[in-house]
Amino acid sequence: MSSKAAGSLLGKVTSTLRECFAFKPHGFQRQSQLPYSQSKMVMRPISDAAAEKAAASIHAPRDPNTLANYNAWRTQHTTANYAIDFEGKRLHGSVSLTLKKLADERKIVLDTSFLDVSAVTVAGKKVDWELAAKRTEPYGTPLTIGLADEYVASASEVTVDIEVSTTKDCTALQWMTPAQTSNKKQPYMFSQCQAIHARSLLPCQDTPDVKSTYTFNLRSPLPVVASGLPTGAKDFEVGKDGKDGTLLYTFHQSVPMPSYLFAVASGDLACASIGPRSTVWTGPEELTDCQWEFEADTEDYIKTAEKIVYPYAWTQYNVLVLPPSFPYGGMENPVFTFATPTLISGDRANVDVVAHELAHSWSGNLVSCASWEHFWLNEGWTVYLERRIQGAVHNDDKIRDFSALIGWKALSDSIAQFGEDHEFTKMIPDLKGKDPDDAFSSVPYEKGFVFLYHLEKLIGIEQWDKFIPHYFTTFKERSVDSYEFKATLLDFFASDADASKKLNDLDWDAWYYKPGFPPKPAFDTTLADACLALADQWKALSEGKSDFKPSADDISKFTSQQSYVFLEAVQGFPSPLSPALVETMGKEYAYASSKNVELVSRFYVIALKAKAEKFYKDAAALAGRVGRMKFVRPLYKELLKVDVPLARETFEKNKDFYHPICRSMIEKLLEGNANVGPF
Ligand code: BES
Ligand code: ZN
Repeated sequence: MSSKAAGSLLGKVTSTLRECFAFKPHGFQRQSQLPYSQSKMVMRPISDAAAEKAAASIHAPRDPNTLANYNAWRTQHTTANYAIDFEGKRLHGSVSLTLKKLADERKIVLDTSFLDVSAVTVAGKKVDWELAAKRTEPYGTPLTIGLADEYVASASEVTVDIEVSTTKDCTALQWMTPAQTSNKKQPYMFSQCQAIHARSLLPCQDTPDVKSTYTFNLRSPLPVVASGLPTGAKDFEVGKDGKDGTLLYTFHQSVPMPSYLFAVASGDLACASIGPRSTVWTGPEELTDCQWEFEADTEDYIKTAEKIVYPYAWTQYNVLVLPPSFPYGGMENPVFTFATPTLISGDRANVDVVAHELAHSWSGNLVSCASWEHFWLNEGWTVYLERRIQGAVHNDDKIRDFSALIGWKALSDSIAQFGEDHEFTKMIPDLKGKDPDDAFSSVPYEKGFVFLYHLEKLIGIEQWDKFIPHYFTTFKERSVDSYEFKATLLDFFASDADASKKLNDLDWDAWYYKPGFPPKPAFDTTLADACLALADQWKALSEGKSDFKPSADDISKFTSQQSYVFLEAVQGFPSPLSPALVETMGKEYAYASSKNVELVSRFYVIALKAKAEKFYKDAAALAGRVGRMKFVRPLYKELLKVDVPLARETFEKNKDFYHPICRSMIEKLLEGNANVGPF
């Protein structure tokens, strides 16, 4: 059934939802813009000045969000020797970088942010070094290391050792006291480096355009995980002054990875098996529930992804379930995906996040975007693979299209938030001088997905499926930009006249640089139609135009995802429900008592919009119990509209609980700045 037919069948579907789910091709306007990295092709110096300009652009880094001179010296291997100091809330020790010489430059410039650097040596000898006196916002404080002439002339690589510690301003770490953990017994710490926070954890070339192998030597009184394969714990040291003893936990990452995938966590951790090559790590009390949530699907997902792309490269795939203040749903740190505990809903309803983070093992982690301007190559590809995995596991393309429709709604929300002409609604935004976190939204995810889905349909799935492993082989262990993606695709189909013509006729400029909506593919709407039909019944009831009697039967055949779509449809009603109807919905559909935060948070948004006072306290309590920004943001936004003192009180009570990134997001909301990132 076409979505138009579905629309007329359903009658008055809610206005916003109809917009989002209806088939609405958006015409592209041609926009001519030469991508700056194509200037590499300009190799025809006409004058000296032009030659100089061309040379500068040839050597200009692809990534505008780093201060490192990574085109002169490039990191090959990184060793982090850190003691985890829970009392001082800092890491201290040393970091060694082995860098390869690419150009005769007498200095190495590294990214740092709020780091304390106390000494730098090169090959064991003291050298001149300097931390810039002033920060360059938002990129931090470059560390410049002077090299002796002999090195620059003769060495093809150097090893730099830096004595360093993190500071209280570190944006990559959250430190928790025992009182802030679930069993209140031990302290906890974890990192989150994407996009440009690794520089506040260690001096490095903080760009996805540089890949390094890693050794982690991390001393802690508590178990440690890091983004490498565990190589054991050793060298017990007795604690002084009544403190706990410590072990040196070691990890090795032999697959080169970008700095944003550097990850570490330590706390009262236990682990259990969730598959032949997978374990889940979390607090001992939560372990069994976490194991149950993931054990049915993880290996299936890995095998399915391997069939679509090629064998998994990172040996183990483990999941660390973090405390509730973890600000994201998941983070694809190699070997250990970091995940929010809100995935643990007791019904396996949210394991799709695992499919997503696992898919990053190919898209993002093995093949990485060359800069945050090309972030769609990470997230768009990952959403595409995640939905292919879900479609294959359930052997049903309807599931994939349903998920794509949910994605289209998220894309519409992001575009509405930024405005249709906004730079950040382009697939390749200009991020020069910007903080990539500010550009973060569903746009790279969903516009990227729609583009790849469009290519699949354009070329035909059989041929397209041959390109997938080719692309991931070509750029394996490397970084890639959108122009290389295009060139590789055109090249792969060069001998196929039909596919070549279609690809050459594609309006690449529009896809890459036109802000706002891409053309909407004709997704199957079967699963969404049922949700919208139910929303319509509620709308009629709410407007006094129907005697519909809501009951549990209405949603007995719904998946949780269908309930999410229904709830979002109700959120979009032009006028809110009455408080009495909200109460009926909460009771009859058991949303108010659900353990699934995806459900209950969407329900509370409806309750707050309806000014259903009965739920204010519960909504505020939820906003203080989970720190995943996806939930926190809409709850505070709605709370601020109905009960400012309660919103402020909730923040004051919980501000130490929130992760620094989440805390500053709420602060901006409280200051009245509603336009803080739509994700
Ligand atoms: N890599 C992202 C998380 C991220 C992106 C953190 C940019 C910091 C900066 C991760 O893979 C992701 O997309 N997580 C999603 C879940 C997913 C199912 C869409 C999330 O956190 O909700
Ligand atoms: Zn992702």
